[in-house]
Amino acid sequence: MVNYKDLGLVNTKEMFKGAVDGGYAIPAFNFNNMEQMQAIVSACAETKSPVILQVSSGARKYANQTLLRYMAQGAVEYAKELGWEKPQICLHLDHGDTFELCKSCVDMGFSSVMIDGSHHSYEDNIELTRKVVEYAHQYGVTVEGELGVLAGIEDEVSAEHHTYTRPEEVIDFVKRTGVDSLAISIGTSHGANKFTPEQCTRDENGKLVPPPLRFDILKEIEKQIPGFPIVLHGSSSVPQEYVDIINTYGGKLKDAIGIPEDQLREAARSAVCKINIDSDGRLAMTAVVRKFMAENPDKFDPRQYLGPAREELKKLYMHKINNVLGSNGKA
Ligand code: G3H
Ligand code: 13P
Ligand code: ZN
Repeated sequence: MVNYKDLGLVNTKEMFKGAVDGGYAIPAFNFNNMEQMQAIVSACAETKSPVILQVSSGARKYANQTLLRYMAQGAVEYAKELGWEKPQICLHLDHGDTFELCKSCVDMGFSSVMIDGSHHSYEDNIELTRKVVEYAHQYGVTVEGELGVLAGIEDEVSAEHHTYTRPEEVIDFVKRTGVDSLAISIGTSHGANKFTPEQCTRDENGKLVPPPLRFDILKEIEKQIPGFPIVLHGSSSVPQEYVDIINTYGGKLKDAIGIPEDQLREAARSAVCKINIDSDGRLAMTAVVRKFMAENPDKFDPRQYLGPAREELKKLYMHKINNVLGSNGKA
């Protein structure tokens, strides 16, 4: 049994209190490898932003859970080396789907876990979530639950349509499970194709304009559980410049579209205090690597393309922190 405190990590309690009181959101960035981790930590050290390092079960399979945990411990030391005196870094399981997986992460030094029971019936979701909370809280590990279903792919689970969170259920869910934060569904979804062209309108230049998030549902939820930390998954904005570079250099991303950043900024000012971003980082890395490969057919040292990809990622994360989430200077 490894406790997260011994690794220098923190849980989400203080982070979320600051975010709720201060009208900003904590970035939750997914990582699977060293370059992503370096980019996240150096962006957060430079902006002094608290951060949630997210590991999905896909990431565990790809990179090995033990290695990722040591990388998170290394992240804390790396942050100090970069001059961040008291790094606020949380290691979080993203979309845990079973009690056993969540327990294994708690036992291995994660400081926070998500149990995603959103694909179960309401009562089964409560039962599973409550069981994880009971276990995790013994070790000070915080727990995120989910109510409502996001369209798209969540690890191995995929849903064709959204089921928006029902505001009338949130008080009961939060009370009976004891969760520390709640992920909700108000129109975001995972991946780089968040809406079909049919769901969008077009502006005067023919560019797709996505339907707005359901802020009315968010407000209703806030009314039910004032001050309770709300989480938004599927919050990548899918920057068109990355999509264009990818497609210029041989990629085939069709109708890629994300959540406009002004809407995320508005969400961050409300009860939303954790915003999940993965796809934007994937696009940034892929754009840099595709361009490099096309322009440098004679090069074969991975550092020559992973280095610039890491720089671009850091720039992206700093932009999110400074201009979208508002978490700069909060750690
Ligand atoms: O929720 C989805 C995250 O972007 C993680 O994705 O399961 O492909 O690692 P992944
Ligand atoms: P994106 O696919 O929009 O980056 O969402 C990531 C996410 O929600 C991870 O849990
Ligand atoms: Zn997610």
